[in-house]
Amino acid sequence: FPVENTRNFSIVAHVDHGKSTLADRLLELTGAIDKTKNNKQVLDKLQVERERGITVKAQTASLFCNYEGKRYLLNLIDTPGHVDFSYEVSRSLSACQGVLLVVDANEGIQAQTVANFFLAFEAQLSIIPVINKIDLKNADPERVEKQIEKVFDIPGDECIKISAKLGTNVESVLDAVIKRIPSICSLLIFNSPKAHCRNPLRALVFDSTFDQYRGVIANVALFDGVVSKGDKIVSAHTQKTYEVNEVGVLNPNEQPTHKLYAGQVGYLIAGMKDVTEAQIGDTLYLHKQPVEPLPGFKSAKPMVFAGVYPIDQSEYNNLKSAIEKLTLNDSSVTVHRDSSLALGAGWRLGFLGLLHMEVFNQRLEQEYNASVILTTPTVPYKAVLSSAKLIKEYREKEITIINPAQFPDKSKVTEYLEPVVLGTIITPDEYTGKIMMLCQARRAVQKNMMFIDQNRVMLKYLFPLNEIVVDFYDSLKSLSSGYASFDYEDAGYQTAELVKMDILLNGNIVEELVTVVHKDKAYSVGKAICERLKDSLPRQLFEIAIQAALGSKIIARETMVVILPEK
Ligand code: GTP
Repeated sequence: FPVENTRNFSIVAHVDHGKSTLADRLLELTGAIDKTKNNKQVLDKLQVERERGITVKAQTASLFCNYEGKRYLLNLIDTPGHVDFSYEVSRSLSACQGVLLVVDANEGIQAQTVANFFLAFEAQLSIIPVINKIDLKNADPERVEKQIEKVFDIPGDECIKISAKLGTNVESVLDAVIKRIPSICSLLIFNSPKAHCRNPLRALVFDSTFDQYRGVIANVALFDGVVSKGDKIVSAHTQKTYEVNEVGVLNPNEQPTHKLYAGQVGYLIAGMKDVTEAQIGDTLYLHKQPVEPLPGFKSAKPMVFAGVYPIDQSEYNNLKSAIEKLTLNDSSVTVHRDSSLALGAGWRLGFLGLLHMEVFNQRLEQEYNASVILTTPTVPYKAVLSSAKLIKEYREKEITIINPAQFPDKSKVTEYLEPVVLGTIITPDEYTGKIMMLCQARRAVQKNMMFIDQNRVMLKYLFPLNEIVVDFYDSLKSLSSGYASFDYEDAGYQTAELVKMDILLNGNIVEELVTVVHKDKAYSVGKAICERLKDSLPRQLFEIAIQAALGSKIIARETMVVILPEK
C-alpha cells in the first residue's frame, strides 16, 4: 500500500467523551463493520471494559476508504481515557502522526483532555479537535470552542462539531484525518530519513498481547522497510532472532496479509513465548540488517502496591498461574513474591493506579475464577541509608519500600522520600474554595490557577501521591457535585517526614495492617484506622484492645467490648 496514502492516528479524550462511539462510526463509515448491526464500543473487547463501559486496553483497527479518487489506509488506535491508563495512551501515540482530541460539547475541557493534549503536543502530532455530543440538549459547542482556543491555542475554526451517537458530520472527521494528518513518509520521524519501503526494516513494537495458542502477538508500526511471513527478525532489545509466522492488519480483527510495508500498522507473530520478549518500545529489524533502534518509550512505572493472597492456601498454585497469565497480557503490572504470617504465601503487585488495581482484580475473578485477599494499597517510598554497613547490606544507598512492614527505622536512614504527582483539576468556579481546602488538607502545594472560561477554573497542585491514592477522587467528586475532574502525572520524589505506624490487636502487632504516614497525620490516621477496625472486626467473646503505635508510643486506642446476648 502506498505509504503516502497511509494515516496513523489515535483518538484521545477524557473518560466518556465518546472516543469508542466515534471509533464505531468511523469503522462503519469505512465499511470495516456492518452498519446494520447494533455496534456499541466494538473495540472494547474485554468483559470488564463492556461492564464498566471503559476502555482499558488500547485497540487498533485498519480502515480502508476512497477519497477524491484515491484509496487510503487509515490506522486507528483507540485509547483508554482514564488516568491510570495514560501509559497506554502514550505508547499508542508513538505509533501515530496525529490525534483526534474529542471533547464533550456539554462538559467541555476536562482534566484528562488537558493531559492527553500535552501528550500529543509533546510527541509533535497533528491535533484535530472534535467537539462531540452536539445533539445533547445542554450542548454548548461555541463555549467549548473558545476553551480550546484559550487553553490549547488552537484556532476555533479547526474544531469539528459532531454527534458520534447520531453520526452527524462524522464524514468531516475522515476528511480531516486525510487532509490534516501527515503520512509517515512526509515527516522526519525521530530525525531519521523519510520512511521508505526500500530502507531496511525498522518496526516499533507499541503493544503486545498473549494468545494461548499462537503465543505473543506484537502490534507493530513500520517506520521503514517491509516484513513478510518467513522473514528472520531480531529484537534490538534482547538480540534474539525469530522467524515470522504471520503478519497482518487489524481490521479490527486480525486479518493476515502477505506483507507489512513502511507506514503501516499491524500485527506480527514470531514464536515469542511471553510478552517480555516483545517489549513495548522495542525495535525489530531483519536478521543481518541491523538498524539504529527507534527511541523506546518510558516503561510503565507502578504507582501503587498491594499484597495479593489466595483466600485459601490450597489455591496458591491456581492463583499463581492466573497471575502469570494475566501479566502476560498486562506487562505494566509488576510482581514480587511476598508472604505474611496471617495470610501465608502471596505476592506484592505494583499497579499504575487504583482503577488499574481494581480492573486487575476483577479480571482475576472473571477470567480465571480466582478470589483473592487484597491488602490496603501503598505507594513506593524511598529511604536514603545512613551508614556504609547498611548500604552494603541492602546493596544500594537509596532503597525503595513497597511493603510498609519493611519500612526501615529512622535510626538507619538520613532521609525518607515520598512520590509526588502534579495534579490538574478542572472545576466550575463555585467549588474552587472547597477544593482548595481539600487540597490543603492533603498536603498539596498550589502551582497554578487559570480561568478557562467565565466560570470554569483549572488548578494545578503538587500532591504527595499517598494523599490521593485512597479516597481523594471520591472526595473531590462529592465536594463538587460530580463536576470537578482530576488527572495527574508523575513528578518524582520529595523529602518527607514519614513514620511507620503499627496496629496492635491485644498488644500484638498485625503485620498486614502496618502503614506509613506523614508525621503530622499520624494521630488522625491512627484514630481513623482504630475506629474503622472496631466497626469491621467480627465480634468476639472477649474484649479486644485495638491500638495504633509509633514505636513504643501508643497514639490511639479503641476497645471492642463484649456484649453478651440477653438471656
Ligand atoms: P472511555 O472508553 O471510558 O474512555 O469512554 P469513551 O470516551 O470511549 O466514551 P464512549 O464512546 O464509551 O461514550 C460514553 C457515553 O457517551 C456513551 O453512553 C455513549 O452512548 C455516549 N455518547 C457518545 N457520543 C455521543 C453523542 O454524540 N451524543 C450523545 N448524546 N451521547 C454520546
